[in-house]
Amino acid sequence: MRKVILAYSGGLDTTCCLRWLQERGFEVICFSAGLGSEFSPSDLRQRALKSGARKIYLKDLKAEFASEYILPVLKAGAVYQNRYVLSTALSRPLIAKYLVKIAEQERASFIAHGCSAKGNDQLRIEAGVKLLNPRLKIVAPLREWNLISRQDEIAYAQEHNLPLKVSGKKIYSIDKNIWGLSVEGGDLEDLGKEPPLNSFVTVRPPALALSGPKDITLEFRKGIPVKLNGRKRKFVDILKSLNILGARYGIGRTDLVEDRVVGLKSREVYEAPAAWLLLKAREELDSLVLDKKSRRLKNILSNEYAELVYQGFWFSRLRLSLDKFFDSLSEKANGIIKLRLYRGNITVISRKARASLYRKEQATYGERDEFPREYAQGFIKLFSRSYSD
Ligand code: ARG
Repeated sequence: MRKVILAYSGGLDTTCCLRWLQERGFEVICFSAGLGSEFSPSDLRQRALKSGARKIYLKDLKAEFASEYILPVLKAGAVYQNRYVLSTALSRPLIAKYLVKIAEQERASFIAHGCSAKGNDQLRIEAGVKLLNPRLKIVAPLREWNLISRQDEIAYAQEHNLPLKVSGKKIYSIDKNIWGLSVEGGDLEDLGKEPPLNSFVTVRPPALALSGPKDITLEFRKGIPVKLNGRKRKFVDILKSLNILGARYGIGRTDLVEDRVVGLKSREVYEAPAAWLLLKAREELDSLVLDKKSRRLKNILSNEYAELVYQGFWFSRLRLSLDKFFDSLSEKANGIIKLRLYRGNITVISRKARASLYRKEQATYGERDEFPREYAQGFIKLFSRSYSD
C-alpha cells in the first residue's frame, strides 16, 4: 500500500484531503504541528483517526518555532509589504521539516498537504520538502479534486460522515500560530468594505478594547527579548503573554492587499500583537545603537529577507547568510524600551541602551553644549562639493 504523510490541521480542507487520499488507495499518516493553533491535540487525534488516518503524529513545536524561526525574523525586522509579519509563511518550512522526518521514519514515499493552487503555502511546503529530501513525491488534493467551493467540501464531508462541526456560517479561513494569525475570505474579499466585527479573532476592535493606557517594558539582550516588565522570561512565554495582553488593548491588527507569489492580489487581515510590540521595541533600540548607514542597510535587507521568507526560501544559504548579518547588528541591541498600549496604538515612552550613540551634551539646545561648532563651516564646504555640477 502506498503510504502518505499528510500535513493535518484539523480543518475542513485537510479532513477532506484525508478521506480523498484514502479513497485513492493511500494509507494515510497525519502530522499536526503544535504551533499555537485553535484545535487541541485530543480534538485533532480524534478527528484524524475517525476520518480514517492510520496514525497521527502530534508535536508541540512552539519552543523550536520561537527560537529557530521567529527569533531570526524578529532580529531581521522582516515584515512583508510593511504589514504582514510572515506568521503563516514562517510556519511552513518547520512543518515541511517534520513531514520529511516522519516520512523517512515511516518509509513513506509521499507527502500530502491541503494547500490550494492559488496560495503561497503550497510553494513553501513543497520547496522545503524538495530541498530536504528530493526523492519524496507530493500529492496536493486541492489542485486535483473537483471540490471547487467550500460548499462542495461541506457536502463531501457530510456525504462521507467526516467528524466536522462545519456550518455554512464559518466564513473565514484562519491560520493561527504564536507569531500571528491570518484571516481571509468572506466579506474581506470586498475591498470596499471595512473588516466586519466577526473577522476579529483574538484582537479586540479598538472601540471594545480595554481603555488603558497600559505601559510595559521590554528588555533585550543581543536582540533577544529576555525580560517583560522586569521579569526574566523565556522568549516563547514572552510571546504568549504579549499576544494576550496586546489583544486586550486592540493592538496588532493590519489589513493588507498583498501580492501573492502566484501573481494574484489578495486582501488579508492579520492579528499579531506580540510581533508588533516586539518589532516596535527593537526598532527603537536600533535607533539608539546603530549608526545611520547600518540602519539604512538593515532596512533594505529586512525587505529582502521578508521576500525570501514569503516565497518559501527558508532553507536557503542566502537566508542563513543574512541571519549572520542581522545577528552581528543585534550584538549591540542591549537595552530597555517602555511601550504604551492604548486603543490599538503603540507609543514609545522611554528608551535606554548600554551602547547608545545619543549624546545629550552635544544634541542639546540648552545653554552649554559640547558640539564642536568650529568644524561645521569647513565640513559643509567639503560636503557640498559632491553636489555641484
Ligand atoms: N497570505 C498569507 C501568506 O501567504 C496568509 C496565508 C494564510 N493561509 C491559510 N492557509 N489560511 O502567508
